[in-house]
Amino acid sequence: MKTPLGKGEGGRMSESAVRAGDEGKRLRHGFWVYALSGRVVRSRGPRWHNRAVTERSEYRGGELLDANLPAEPWPLWNEWLRAAREAGLTEPEAMHLATTDAAGRPHGRVVLLRGWDERGLWFFSHTHGPKGQELADNPYAAATFWWPALERQIRVEGAVERLPEAESDAYFAARPYESRLASAAVAQSRPVRDRSQLEEQVEALRSRYPVELPRPATWGGYLIVPDRMEFWQGRPARLHDRIDYRRAGSGWVRQRLSP
Ligand SMILES: Cc1cc2nc3c(=O)[nH]c(=O)nc-3n(C[C@H](O)[C@H](O)[C@H](O)COP(=O)(O)O)c2cc1C
Repeated sequence: MKTPLGKGEGGRMSESAVRAGDEGKRLRHGFWVYALSGRVVRSRGPRWHNRAVTERSEYRGGELLDANLPAEPWPLWNEWLRAAREAGLTEPEAMHLATTDAAGRPHGRVVLLRGWDERGLWFFSHTHGPKGQELADNPYAAATFWWPALERQIRVEGAVERLPEAESDAYFAARPYESRLASAAVAQSRPVRDRSQLEEQVEALRSRYPVELPRPATWGGYLIVPDRMEFWQGRPARLHDRIDYRRAGSGWVRQRLSP
C-alpha cells in the first residue's frame, strides 16, 4: 500500500515497514518515519524525539469571561503586559514582528517592545535593514506575543509610522554605551566577512567616540498604530477564549472569535 510520504526523502515506503509501536525507520537527511495512530508520519527524529506530534497541553490557567471584558482593548492590554512582567518571564516584551516586502512576501523576526501609550506600541531598530525597507514599502505590521507560562497570546496589527525623532534620540541616549556602540557600528543584516570584522568596526567607532555617541541617522523608533488587537487565553479541551478588538472610527468593536 502506498503511504502519504510520496516521493519525499527515502521514496515510497510500505506501511508494514513502520507499524505502530516500532521505533521507526531512519531515512536519508536525518528524517525518520514511523506510525502514529495508524498514520505514517515523517519526523526529524526517532519516534520518542517527535514530541511535537504526540504531546498535548491542556490549558487551565485563566479565562476571558464576557461579563469582565472592557469595551476597549487597552485595559486588558495593560493588565496582560503587567502580568507577563510580574510572572518573571524571560523577555516578556519580546514580540514576533511580521512585515511584507514590495512583492508581498512576508518576513518575520523578534523585536523588543519598548513602550506603548494611547498612540500605539513602539520598538527600535535599524531603519536601513530589511525590516526598515519593508516598512517603507508597505507600512503595516503584525506583532505577536506568546507567553506559554500564562497560556496567553496577543496579536496586534496596524499601520506603522516612524516615532518622532526626539523620542528616538531620548531612547538612544538612555541606552548603555556598549549597546549604543554596537547599534551604531554595524549595518544590520548585511553579510560580514567574519566576527572579527564586527569587532573591528566596534573598536574603530569606540576610538572615534570614546564617551558620547550620537544616534545614527539609520537607527530609530517605529510606532505600530493598532487597528486590531486580539487576546487569546488557552482553555481546556481546545475551547480557547479569543477576544478580538477592531478599531471603528474613534472607538473599538469587540467580538468573541471561535478558537
Ligand atoms: C529576543 C530578541 C530581541 C530582539 N530585539 C530586537 C530589537 O528590538 N530591534 C531589532 O532591530 N532587532 C532585534 N532583534 C534582532 C531581530 O530579530 C533581527 O535579527 C534583526 O532586527 C534583523 O531583522 P531584519 O533583517 O528583518 O531587518 C531581537 C532578536 C531577539 C531574539
